[in-house]
Amino acid sequence: MTGTILVTGGGGAVGSAVCEFLAERGCKVRAMVRQKDARSEKLAARGVEIAAGDLCDLHAAHRAMEGCDRVYFGMSVSPAYLEATVNMAAVAKHHQIKAFVNISQMTVSQMGITSTTDSPQQKMHWLAEQALGWSGLPVVTVRPTAFLNTFFLRLSMQSVRQHRQIRLPFGTGKISPVASDDVARVIATVLEAPEGHVGRIYELTGPRSQSMTEIAEEFSEALDETITYVDVPFEPWRKALADSGALSPHVLTHLATMALLIQENRYDRLTSDVERVTGSPALDLTGWFWTGLIERVSWDRRSRTCGEVRRRARSRWC
Ligand SMILES: NC(=O)c1ccc[n+]([C@@H]2O[C@H](COP(=O)([O-])OP(=O)(O)OC[C@H]3O[C@@H](n4cnc5c(N)ncnc54)[C@H](OP(=O)(O)O)[C@@H]3O)[C@@H](O)[C@H]2O)c1
Repeated sequence: MTGTILVTGGGGAVGSAVCEFLAERGCKVRAMVRQKDARSEKLAARGVEIAAGDLCDLHAAHRAMEGCDRVYFGMSVSPAYLEATVNMAAVAKHHQIKAFVNISQMTVSQMGITSTTDSPQQKMHWLAEQALGWSGLPVVTVRPTAFLNTFFLRLSMQSVRQHRQIRLPFGTGKISPVASDDVARVIATVLEAPEGHVGRIYELTGPRSQSMTEIAEEFSEALDETITYVDVPFEPWRKALADSGALSPHVLTHLATMALLIQENRYDRLTSDVERVTGSPALDLTGWFWTGLIERVSWDRRSRTCGEVRRRARSRWC
């Protein structure tokens, strides 16, 4: 395919990385962003065309998709998610899009009409997958587990910095967090050549499913400091997140549900879909510290000396 690829959420973790990977590969890319800012300027400097607009706005979606033959759809966890999905699907049908890559969540694979979760976001992802299935669009579904960086590390950074502890209410549950850059690599690979991917569902995890104690050991190795895991009680943890005022009620309920599902060991999942699609394995925590923290991972993973990387990791985390 030779047409333009529309990437929504161009200012976000996955969307921006998808744009960069595709631009590196010489594809024609258009990023849809909510508004133009420093992030979109950075993408424009790499040759990405920018279309500003709201994903729930039919006209903005129509303008952004005009002339495109493939679409990545993803946006921030928010109450308007389902409306935006259906909006984009309607516009994609109008433009006879050849591949519509939808990001969902791994939890959806365990959901059904009689088994949902307490997260309104997860329910909307399940409904969005249903609606896209009914649409007849050439859909590719990508269901990542919790993101290593924007979920897992963000929730643990402050307590690592202040106390050399990972304080989370995950009990003895295991998780296999995946780097958002690996998710983006999968999406970019599919968009570049969608033949053979349409109709498929990819479930994306990191390379190991580990307890928090094992993860703390990886932190210790990467930072050259003793980092321990402390299993904190759920409700005070949830309340502290709420009191911080940093999260909307929708996002707070979603994160709290994820924490409880991890406690129940529902995130103890492992797949090799990152490697199956891209040809290279998913980053583990140590690999992410070594590369992803320092610079966005490129197709040819950048290598640096361990000493330099550890110094830079410590300056950010310790
Ligand atoms: N984080 C995890 O652990 C995890 C795990 C599995 C799946 N996922 C899925 O990953 C997706 C999120 O991807 P991400 O990490 O790239 O999200 P992100 O970093 O929050 O980026 C999403 C982008 O969407 C844009 N956006 C939000 N609402 C919009 C609207 N109404 N119109 C136009 N643009 C809008 C945001 O713009 P602004 O920046 O201007 O607000 C943001 O740049 C979600 O589907 C989520 O369920 C996440």
